[in-house]
Amino acid sequence: KRHLISAADLTRDDAVLILDTAEEMARVADRPIKKLPTLRGRTVCNLFFEDSTRTRISFEAAEKRLSADVINFAAKGSSVSKGESLKDTAQTLEAMGVDAVVIRHSASGAPYRLATSGWIDAPVINAGDGTHQHPTQALLDAFTMRRRLIGPDAGLGQDLGGKRITLVGDVLHSRVARSNVDLLHTLGAEVTLVAPPTLVPVGVETWPCEVSYDLDSVLPKSDAVMMLRVQRERMNAAFFPTEREYSRRYGLDGHRMARMPEHALVMHPGPMVRGMEITAEVADSERCTVVEQVTNGVSVRMAVLYLLLGGNEPAVTHPRTEEK
Ligand code: CP
Repeated sequence: KRHLISAADLTRDDAVLILDTAEEMARVADRPIKKLPTLRGRTVCNLFFEDSTRTRISFEAAEKRLSADVINFAAKGSSVSKGESLKDTAQTLEAMGVDAVVIRHSASGAPYRLATSGWIDAPVINAGDGTHQHPTQALLDAFTMRRRLIGPDAGLGQDLGGKRITLVGDVLHSRVARSNVDLLHTLGAEVTLVAPPTLVPVGVETWPCEVSYDLDSVLPKSDAVMMLRVQRERMNAAFFPTEREYSRRYGLDGHRMARMPEHALVMHPGPMVRGMEITAEVADSERCTVVEQVTNGVSVRMAVLYLLLGGNEPAVTHPRTEEK
């Protein structure tokens, strides 16, 4: 494939290949020298029109570990604030000879437009667009689940068949939820969404998942529970849920976490709003993988960049050979 725009575009075999390649990349990260020469001489541009901490830093770390030259573009402080369009920004990057573009944008569909417009001739990786998709987040979440629930070695070549995954919270505004539902379904998992009725998207009945409004009844049947942030910046202020009411019905605290099976994971894509969807006690507990998800994000993004840009090189499965 030439671009990564949506988790829905990945077949089971595509996704398993990315997860397996990410395992190889994770082994490189455990070595004293974490760098591979795979993308030496290639230039990757990180084009961020919307704020980010984890995704932006993690793509940059992944690119640098693969020895790519990195250009960081933030819309704030660029000529976008003078009214420059996505087309003119893209053509400026094309004129500079970039080999891949990682894009985050508040408009759903912006990465698809960039990939199909002909404005640039480079692979496009979606780093999150509006409420639409965040495919590398879903891949790093699946990678974390496979590692923890099956094992790094036992998981190789495996999908998440039969695992029961629950996503809780503001599904309406969540590109993470959409991407996870698509990818987890492709990987054979059973997905349940739990959300207040006002934060469930219209048309959810066509999604490959169940919907529940009763968190307490779903928790004991979950292998992983992913808490979603309430995205106030995408809501009309009149619809803000109160923290107290929301956390009472849909928040995860220590008392609720005790209803989960002992092996079950607590996940969060970040950024977390402590006290709203998750208490500090749960966020800081042993069962919460939020920091591990960030670590895994670097390996998964290395795998995606490698497969899109350097896939003809021998490599990734033999990092020691590559280093010579
Ligand atoms: N999970 C995630 O996309 O976080 P950032 O918005 O900080 O990149």
